[in-house]
Amino acid sequence: MLNIAVLVSGGGTNLQAIIDSIESGKLDNVRIVKVISNKEGAYALERAAKHGIEGVCISPGSYEDRADYFEALSKELKNAGTELIVLAGFLVVLSPGFVREWQGRIINIHPSLIPSFCGDGYYGLKVHEKALERGVKVTGATVHFVDEGTDTGPIILQKAVNVEDGDTPEILQKRVMEQAEWIILPQAIRMIADGRIKTG
Ligand code: GAR
Repeated sequence: MLNIAVLVSGGGTNLQAIIDSIESGKLDNVRIVKVISNKEGAYALERAAKHGIEGVCISPGSYEDRADYFEALSKELKNAGTELIVLAGFLVVLSPGFVREWQGRIINIHPSLIPSFCGDGYYGLKVHEKALERGVKVTGATVHFVDEGTDTGPIILQKAVNVEDGDTPEILQKRVMEQAEWIILPQAIRMIADGRIKTG
């Protein structure tokens, strides 16, 4: 059984995709030991509660400095028995120290085909705005290991999604979630749980 913790900042539809995969038996060797949000009142925490999963808010604003925040976050993760950290729309930039401590045991879902539309400032809806501005005909999503850079870690899975005439950032975001993110994130977790890829 692989113990995962899911870190979130908002709606938590990717968290929901993981929960659904566990409940339907597709991820029968994975357990969510904790959902952690940096934002009080994030809907993702409600999703966790609805499924009997422990959720907690640990907010950077409640700590003196970033070092204290990441120490508290790491402690919570260890106490829960976390083996893999899944960033599912978690919009806090991790400190190098935290990444080193959890080296090879953090994965992230990003809503584009990395190396396009990624790096500093590319998150959430902004990614799709930039893709539409550039006029690409194909976009998608990527699951990758997290290293000390922003969206620079080794790629695990990618899935392409067509851009259609008349797309708005919101429409494109929804299509990328439905056709790519909610599929490849549980798949990547499955690959790690099955020992098909190395986590460290
Ligand atoms: C998702 O589209 C995820 O790929 C993106 O935030 C959204 C969260 O949605 N993450 C990033 O942009 C990270 N750079 P959700 O809360 O409904 O899963």
